[in-house]
Amino acid sequence: MTQVFTLIGYSKEVFKECKVDDYKRIRKLEETGLWGEAVRQRKAIVVNDYKAPNRFKKGQPEGHVELLRYLAAPVFYADRIVATVGVANKESDYNDTDSMQLSLLMDAAWRIIESHAAREQERKLITAVEQSADSIVITDSSGTIIYVNPAVEKITGYSKRELIGQNPRVLKSGEHDQSFYKALWDTITDGKTWSGRFVNRRKDGATYKEEATISPVLNGVGKITNFVAVKRDVTKNLELQAQLFQAQKMEAIGTLAGGFAHDFNNLLQVILGYLDLILSGQDLPAQLQANLEEIRRAARSGADLVKRMLIFSRKTSTQIESVNLNTIVEQVRSLLGRSMPKLIEIELLTDTDLWAINADPGQMEQVLMNLAINARDAMPDVGRLTIETQNIVLDEEHHNVHLGVKPGRYALLSVTDTGTGMDEETAKHIFEPFFTTKEAGKGTGLGLSVVYGIVEQQGGKIICDSQLSVGTTFNVYFPVIEEVPNAQCHT
Ligand SMILES: Nc1ncnc2c1ncn2[C@@H]1O[C@H](COP(=O)(O)OP(=O)(O)OP(=O)(O)O)[C@@H](O)[C@H]1O
Ligand SMILES: [Mg+2]
Repeated sequence: MTQVFTLIGYSKEVFKECKVDDYKRIRKLEETGLWGEAVRQRKAIVVNDYKAPNRFKKGQPEGHVELLRYLAAPVFYADRIVATVGVANKESDYNDTDSMQLSLLMDAAWRIIESHAAREQERKLITAVEQSADSIVITDSSGTIIYVNPAVEKITGYSKRELIGQNPRVLKSGEHDQSFYKALWDTITDGKTWSGRFVNRRKDGATYKEEATISPVLNGVGKITNFVAVKRDVTKNLELQAQLFQAQKMEAIGTLAGGFAHDFNNLLQVILGYLDLILSGQDLPAQLQANLEEIRRAARSGADLVKRMLIFSRKTSTQIESVNLNTIVEQVRSLLGRSMPKLIEIELLTDTDLWAINADPGQMEQVLMNLAINARDAMPDVGRLTIETQNIVLDEEHHNVHLGVKPGRYALLSVTDTGTGMDEETAKHIFEPFFTTKEAGKGTGLGLSVVYGIVEQQGGKIICDSQLSVGTTFNVYFPVIEEVPNAQCHT
């Protein structure tokens, strides 16, 4: 390794007198003269008659200030030479006191420089920690919080002041048992790092999921002084994963149901065709005719089921035209009027400037009808059914929250009831064909599968929001027809 010497600076006076044009600032240590000698000998070098021959001198560049007397001293920091300093041309000879004073002065100056650099380093670290989007919590060795960064305040809803002095258990959600926390504590008090996932509770009571790494901080003699937790809120990521999984599952069921329904439909059409042929013939014994008609009825309702499965798997043809959802709402309202119990109030909140969509009006009616009938079924006695339409522009953020909803303009159809609501497990399955919680004979479990199929075929999105004993809202987003600007004709 070559040790080099870098000339950092001169005093102002030297600059005024020095005429060296192009001073070589970096030199190999072995090429340096007296000033390098202070490093080689690890002590101050005093030369009071500079002109006298001296074996350590290596010459000076042209224009250098004339030297009469010279003192060079090494600067020590933690037993290491970090610089040398040279002074020259004192009126009288340099003595031991001069070299000692210079050394002390420079060592002290260097310590100031170092502590300044350390503070600067500390400031950078603090800025990084404070600005981190990840939560950072520092506790003492007993687990009492002594520092939280702003991300913690943002995620938990608690202020710094509320958290400092507390134990992180204030965030406990109750979702983990005692053995979970014991395993964590045993790991970190054993000097090891723990990684895992927490379900924690915010100040407002909502839970959130975070991925955490908790490490012990050891002092010079290996004793634990603190614990540092770095945590990332993964609630949204997990939701997106679940949505993706759900979408893939629906796709798979759709493919399966579609293939089956298609073939089965062909068989039913053959059966119905022959039945029609037989029944159109004359002179059938009355009993036989009645039995055949019974078979035809059953085959037709079979064909109807199959048709709904085909809609779910998006294997039907559609009659697409420009549709204003408000018209559909009006039609369904008059249909509903007859089937709704008296104590269910129907409220319509339609946006009069609703954007038009491209859709099959018959299918739109089916979507709204199915949603409204489910709402009615969820309110056996009294309640309110609200049907709302509005224009909505989804931005990138929505795109991130709800997988697959592309940013853009949508007509939103919302159907809200004040009914029974559903638990999480039920809500996971509602769009699957034949999923029903209704008693046998009351529901086929195809209503929402049909809705799902139609909405997906439109390039739309259906999102269900439900709370047990409070009610349910279905939000259906239909992409709006984007106007293509008319081409200008020039003649
Ligand atoms: N508004 C709602 N409130 C509460 N639960 C609902 C609501 N809408 C749907 N569900 C639940 O979703 C299940 C599936 O609904 P879906 O419309 O697909 O089938 P269904 O209503 O049971 O039968 P079908 O519509 O074929 O007659 C219902 O059985 C019910 O458990
Ligand atoms: Mg239904």
